[in-house]
Amino acid sequence: MNQHLRPEPVAFIDVAAQRRRLGTRIDDAVARVLAHCQFINGPEVARLEADLAALCGARHVVACASGTDALLMVLMAQGIGPGDAVICPSFTFCATGEVVALTGATPVFVDVDETTFNMDVASLKRGIATARKLGLTVRAVIPVDLFGQSADHDAIAEVARDEGLFVLDDAAQSFGATYKGRRLGAFGLATATSFFPAKPLGCFGDGGAIFTDDADLADRLRSVRVHGQGSEKYDNVRLGLTGRLDTIQAAILIEKLKIFEDEIAARNRVADRYFDALHNIVTAPRVADGNLSVWAQYTIRLPHGGRDAFADALRAQGVPTAIYYPKSMHQQTAYRHYPVAEGGLPVSERLSQDVISLPMHAYLEPAAQDRVIKAVRDALA
Ligand SMILES: Cc1ncc(COP(=O)(O)O)c(C=O)c1O
Repeated sequence: MNQHLRPEPVAFIDVAAQRRRLGTRIDDAVARVLAHCQFINGPEVARLEADLAALCGARHVVACASGTDALLMVLMAQGIGPGDAVICPSFTFCATGEVVALTGATPVFVDVDETTFNMDVASLKRGIATARKLGLTVRAVIPVDLFGQSADHDAIAEVARDEGLFVLDDAAQSFGATYKGRRLGAFGLATATSFFPAKPLGCFGDGGAIFTDDADLADRLRSVRVHGQGSEKYDNVRLGLTGRLDTIQAAILIEKLKIFEDEIAARNRVADRYFDALHNIVTAPRVADGNLSVWAQYTIRLPHGGRDAFADALRAQGVPTAIYYPKSMHQQTAYRHYPVAEGGLPVSERLSQDVISLPMHAYLEPAAQDRVIKAVRDALA
């Protein structure tokens, strides 16, 4: 009997609530594409690229098929390949290092900062030294703006400048976030983002985009996006991909972008409320002064050892959790043989054991937030 009275579980991410808010605006946008039938490279793609550029201030935007392609296309357009090293944080989604390995180059994994979970600059320097000792040519660094918060771009840019590397920012989780008051998309040589449905700005399938101020790179990216096409359609001048964003996804994103700022504000209200209620009992995430997070995840740290029991206790109260990431990249089967920065990656390894993410989205009502907060408190009582 009691089971029937139990409230519905809290939604970890609620794509359906946003769908209800947008209602027929999405249906109408899709219907327009179905009417004009330009499913590839329709007018919505260029319109979306312009809207995205206006939001983040980048001069050139190249929409593409996924966040993974966005990263890979930049590496391909820059001629990264065997003998090159690209420095990546280990505590990230696998795509960050995967794209490096796909080019034949070597990902060199470095550690992250305990508080922001983003690239640790001292470890970055050690990683560069490690790669050189191995005889690799260090070409690039891929900082990740993890869980919605920007990496320390000034500090990373300084190292990159001193060492002659280019910066490819992996903002797959953080488009819309700011660093020292400027939107991501404007740091480094190029920025990649993802429009996977669960991302702060997601489409209804796979999608991504690349941002750069470099006009030549933007031209090469547009070529890589279509099999390395040259000025003559059937004279391909480099290797490329089928890397385009579907017109239907662009049409959906144009509508979603109109409410994006409002959703970022709503996510920040949820994060503030969580912080006030929880920072005394768990290690709650902190955003560096002057930055705005888009809260792709709300990830707390627990005292070592109790994570499974904590997750079970929350689940029993209808509160789902997720673990990003139970293994850092250098601990995974496919990446174990790649080098790590001298001294190892102790922070990444500890975080993989201690972090857990709570429900977070723009439509998390105060009553649902209270259920999450109560469940966390009860579990740790
Ligand atoms: C940090 C990071 N990089 C890259 C990607 C790849 O994006 P996509 O899934 O759109 O290929 C993701 C997606 O989860 C990500 O979180």
